[in-house]
Amino acid sequence: MAARGVGLLACLPLGSQARGRVQRPMHSLLSYPGAVAADFEQEKQPPGSVETGSEDKTSLKRFSEVQKERREQAQRTVLIQCPNKVNEKKFLKYLSQHGPINNHFFYESFGLHAVVEFCQKESVTSLQNATRTPSLSTEAAIPFRSRFFNLKLKNPLNQTSEPSSIQCSNQSPPSSKKLFELLHYADSIDDQLHNLLKEFQITEENTKLRYLTCSLIEDIAAAYFPHCTVRPFGSSVNSFGKLGCDLDMFLDLDEIEKLHAQKTSGNFLTEFQVKNVPSERIATQKILSVIGECLDHFGPGCVGLQKILNARCPLVRFSHQAAGLQCDLTTNNRIALKSSELLYIYGTLDSRVRALVFGIRCWARAHSLTSSIPGTWITNFSLTMMVIFFLQRRSPPILPTLNHLKSLADTEDKCIIEGHNCTFISDLNRIKPSGNTETLELLLKEFFEYFGNFAYEKNSINIRQGREQNKPESSPLHIQNPFETSLNISKNVNQSQLQKFVELTRESAWILQQEGKDRPSPSSNQPWGLAALLLPPIAKTKALAQKKRKRLVSERIKNLLEAVRTNNTENSTDPNEGKKISTKA
Ligand code: GTP
Ligand code: MG
Repeated sequence: MAARGVGLLACLPLGSQARGRVQRPMHSLLSYPGAVAADFEQEKQPPGSVETGSEDKTSLKRFSEVQKERREQAQRTVLIQCPNKVNEKKFLKYLSQHGPINNHFFYESFGLHAVVEFCQKESVTSLQNATRTPSLSTEAAIPFRSRFFNLKLKNPLNQTSEPSSIQCSNQSPPSSKKLFELLHYADSIDDQLHNLLKEFQITEENTKLRYLTCSLIEDIAAAYFPHCTVRPFGSSVNSFGKLGCDLDMFLDLDEIEKLHAQKTSGNFLTEFQVKNVPSERIATQKILSVIGECLDHFGPGCVGLQKILNARCPLVRFSHQAAGLQCDLTTNNRIALKSSELLYIYGTLDSRVRALVFGIRCWARAHSLTSSIPGTWITNFSLTMMVIFFLQRRSPPILPTLNHLKSLADTEDKCIIEGHNCTFISDLNRIKPSGNTETLELLLKEFFEYFGNFAYEKNSINIRQGREQNKPESSPLHIQNPFETSLNISKNVNQSQLQKFVELTRESAWILQQEGKDRPSPSSNQPWGLAALLLPPIAKTKALAQKKRKRLVSERIKNLLEAVRTNNTENSTDPNEGKKISTKA
């Protein structure tokens, strides 16, 4: 299916003249989404390579620093839809006429696409100026200047005669088959969790694509609200993002006010003329409605737009087909951005946190405890809070409480949003690493034990205090919103979903206990450790039955050998006793 909106794209003629030097392509699969390109050495090492604790000596970046650098990077970047057999060398040579290229990568999403990051922002303008709008014979093309281009070959035959060496960066999570292989050949449950994290986490390229998508949407929104910003939040930036997760975006109009707040001398004060609306909620709905219309009609690559304006948090949902991302655009949602920063801190403080969260999220997904459709089930956000809370409860604690992070805050960290105190330290390097050295295997087992026996009927999960609190209301599951403390982030969860969660945690704790007793050899095909936990119930029952059968057989063989040995010993005194050996065992 052709991407809708492509007809509106400007076309780039591919010539052969080159002025600038072609930079070496960067294909390295950098893995840590929170860090930026400057951290190559750190990023090349899989996050799972550190066993326990925060032993990493390199300075950790603040959330705001990462956001700023990524945003600036995205502004120097363009998205190009390419013909399938484009010649990479010529492509780079052509683009570098507009300035040196910092890095680039190709990926597939409804055709071949390239993300090209220039060294300077001016190169993007130069490329835009050299680009023409398409002249279509059957459709009307509305001229739209964006940073999403459509590359055409002037002479396709010339291009295709050379072998194509394009390597595409992977933007999807691994298949179940690959996942099970990966888990099967791991050495330990700790290894399994690290492998899972490595394969599922958002890659460096995918992070770039997410920031670029926000930047492209910002260009469109800026037509209405100059100097607005569109920021990613949620799992795309909070260090818990899985390949394929949605892209949560926040249209920030507060920056506009900051920009215009310049002092003037004299007796007069000028104000912008604005239209008043009855409430902030109505303002939010109107802004999203208009931006939504604009994205729907003119946004290159944006398809399937839905306005969900009556939700508690109004949003516009659409698919950015070219980026292969499902997007949720909200505005007036600053607290969610702060939650993302808090999760980023928790995810970055200790290398075990992300591995455990990914493991638990995958486990929950495999058993349909979570879903991409909203409903009465637990969300990934709630699950992450549960893992954080559990890690705060370890002895010694692996993660500090939110109150502790607040007590470490500087004056510049002070943050009050809509009357809610959202203050906590932003400099991760000032948070003391935990002295706890428990293995991931133990933590996984204990997580299931802990939540399999939690007093849900009377207690609330509270990461601010780091201890259970009396439940202030009767929802089956109560997880206090860390900032809007009177709210329950899991209010949607009903009793039967909670029951299902509890049963599965107990079952998983039991499976892990059995696992510890006799782990199958790598040569056997039997799923073990995390793989056994991720199996759907029927397959698991079969696997358990198979395991039980094998145990019975091996017990029989053992008994038989024992009997032979006993017999041999006795044979040395009474040769006739051998007849007594039974093979029934
Ligand atoms: P994914 O399932 O990977 O998308 O995780 P996510 O953390 O991005 O969750 P989601 O897309 O549902 O929500 C995006 C962000 O909105 C979350 O990270 C939170 O910051 C915030 N959020 C989601 N649900 C709630 C909620 O119930 N209460 C509050 N206060 N914030 C929420
Ligand atoms: Mg999300």
